[in-house]
Amino acid sequence: MASPQLLIFSFSFLYLFFTTTLYPTATAADTSAASVGGSWSLLQKSIGIAAMHMQLLPTDRVVIFDRTDFGASNISLPDGKCREDPRERALKKDCTAHSVEYNVGLNSFRPLMVLTDVWCSSGALMSDGSLVQTGGFNDGERVVRVFNKSCGKCDWEEIESGLVQRRWYATNHILPDGRQIVIGGRRQYNYEFYPKTVAADKAYTLRFLAETNDPSEDNLYPFVFLNTDGNLFIFANNRAILFNYSRNQVLKTFPEIPGGEPRNYPSTGSAVLLPLRVVQGKVAVVEVLVCGGAPKGAYVNANKKTFDEALKSCGRIKISDPEPKWVMEVMPLARVMGDMILLPNGDVLIINGASRGTAGWELGRDPVLNPVLYRPYDQVNSRFDTLNPSSIPRMYHSTAILLRDGRVLVGGSNPHVYYNFTNVLFPTELRLEAFSPSYLDPSSSKIRPKIISPVTQTKIQHGKQIIVRFTVQNQVDLNRISVTMVAPSFNTHSFSMNQRLLVLDNGNTTKLVGNLTYEVNVTAPPSGYIAPSGYYMLFVVHQDIPSEGIWVVI
Ligand SMILES: *[C@@H]1O[C@H](CO)[C@@H](O)[C@H](O)[C@H]1NC(C)=O
Ligand SMILES: *[C@@H]1O[C@H](CO)[C@@H](O)[C@H](O)[C@H]1NC(C)=O
Ligand SMILES: *[C@@H]1O[C@H](CO)[C@@H](O)[C@H](O)[C@H]1NC(C)=O
Ligand SMILES: *[C@@H]1O[C@H](CO)[C@@H](O)[C@H](O)[C@H]1NC(C)=O
Ligand SMILES: *[C@@H]1O[C@H](CO)[C@@H](O)[C@H](O)[C@H]1NC(C)=O
Ligand SMILES: *[C@@H]1O[C@H](CO)[C@@H](O)[C@H](O)[C@H]1NC(C)=O
Ligand SMILES: *[C@@H]1O[C@H](CO)[C@@H](O)[C@H](O)[C@H]1NC(C)=O
Repeated sequence: MASPQLLIFSFSFLYLFFTTTLYPTATAADTSAASVGGSWSLLQKSIGIAAMHMQLLPTDRVVIFDRTDFGASNISLPDGKCREDPRERALKKDCTAHSVEYNVGLNSFRPLMVLTDVWCSSGALMSDGSLVQTGGFNDGERVVRVFNKSCGKCDWEEIESGLVQRRWYATNHILPDGRQIVIGGRRQYNYEFYPKTVAADKAYTLRFLAETNDPSEDNLYPFVFLNTDGNLFIFANNRAILFNYSRNQVLKTFPEIPGGEPRNYPSTGSAVLLPLRVVQGKVAVVEVLVCGGAPKGAYVNANKKTFDEALKSCGRIKISDPEPKWVMEVMPLARVMGDMILLPNGDVLIINGASRGTAGWELGRDPVLNPVLYRPYDQVNSRFDTLNPSSIPRMYHSTAILLRDGRVLVGGSNPHVYYNFTNVLFPTELRLEAFSPSYLDPSSSKIRPKIISPVTQTKIQHGKQIIVRFTVQNQVDLNRISVTMVAPSFNTHSFSMNQRLLVLDNGNTTKLVGNLTYEVNVTAPPSGYIAPSGYYMLFVVHQDIPSEGIWVVI
């Protein structure tokens, strides 16, 4: 019988084999560190478009879209429809789709009709579960689009002039009052809200965005998180502020990240708000982790065909501290255009991207095929693991999101102005894959919890008790049960907007209540500051192994 090590070795070998045969021009990054853990599966050979933006809906369907001015995609619009748009830059008449809806359960997809250009846009899931997407380019730059989750055959609905300003490369966040804030975008040093509460609602100046702008515009798609005090943490380029958006006031300026290298588009790194642990209605520690990116000047250099090595560092900061300081850590692999995904057990997956160059057309080199895992609460210096590689480079315009079953959906990669499948270093990528972290290995099935109740789509209320019943085959370590809630995020350009994980207070109440059956009482997050109203995936985690999630709506 083959030992596990041997199996892992032979799988890695196979992956490398495919990598080198399928992509002779794409040299894999240095993966000399032993890679263990996780597995990849190809879900679709082609979904017809390059997955530039992705959002999971509470129906376990994923809305995916790229842009309308890429030329013809590889999937036709439904019912023989065509889009005729005199303002369109690529094709005045286009009978192909630039958006699809992927059904996770059935592993199927259908084309959607998007009317105006959604290129490099942003969005968020509203509290009713519909996706509200904002902006884009050209005729789409001030359009707001709604995708209603409630009907199986829904398509995009577009609201002309839904925005006051053009929003291209902006970041959105859902607010405790149910609106979303839309921050920045190219040459937009301001923010606005959607929906508008008063008809005359305007855009409000945000000088920080002008201050962090530089010749490379290394401050686009700022990293935005709702702090548990209701203010926004906004990181752009190499520094951050704490911001009261209703008063338009900077409350705190955080120190510059050590080294001063840029972390936002086009020097694209990524960032997450680390798990928020709620204890007796409070979150004592709020931390942000920023990883990867490209050194200052890398975009200018890449345009001159010098592809600088990506950043290997992460900065972690306790934004809840009175005097916050960055603590630097080193990743096993340098990475630009990586996505950081919170897994249900609180670990952070760093996936996709390249080890040289920057974001932008044709500017990335040397794909990093291995994801890396970061365990935030392990000893410093033993937090990272290099995981098993994919065979598919995921360069500029690639995406990753967490699914309710614990897998991570990976798609996209198109560093070209059009869909280019031949004679290019990184062909436009239409394949959809899933990465299964090692917690999904069958070897963990005996300790994996299975939620019995509540049923999926249950309504919960801020601060109220939720009784969660679950089964586990093997004996449970009662001290190693936790219940987490993860918000489904809007992913594009290596950043997941609205990504948030809460570890609920369980008061150590886990107890055996029947044959292999356990019950734990948890308290729902106390307020919209800690968890804005809307849909979340709820997981029971035992010894770091998560159950399949259920949807709850708060
Ligand atoms: C996409 O369509 C183009 C043009 O018809 C074709 O050459 C190419 O093989 C297709 N690619 C994929 C991945 O389906
Ligand atoms: C979504 O569709 C459902 C069913 O057709 C409808 O009841 C609901 O009002 C729609 N929601 C929005 C926000 O349009
Ligand atoms: C922001 O400032 C306004 C006006 O002073 C205040 O009412 C509000 O509570 C502040 N927001 C937060 C989250 O503290
Ligand atoms: C991609 O395809 C377009 C249209 O077919 C072509 O004009 C362009 O040169 C190609 N881009 C690259 C990088 O080869
Ligand atoms: C739960 O157990 C942990 C560790 O055993 C302990 O630190 C904590 O105070 C306990 N919480 C409650 C509410 O009893
Ligand atoms: C959970 O809460 C319910 C209702 O408040 C209570 O009846 C039950 O005893 C609690 N269970 C535990 C394990 O604390
Ligand atoms: C306990 O539950 C398991 C799984 O549901 C079942 O196979 C087993 O027969 C049950 N045992 C008893 C004693 O009820």
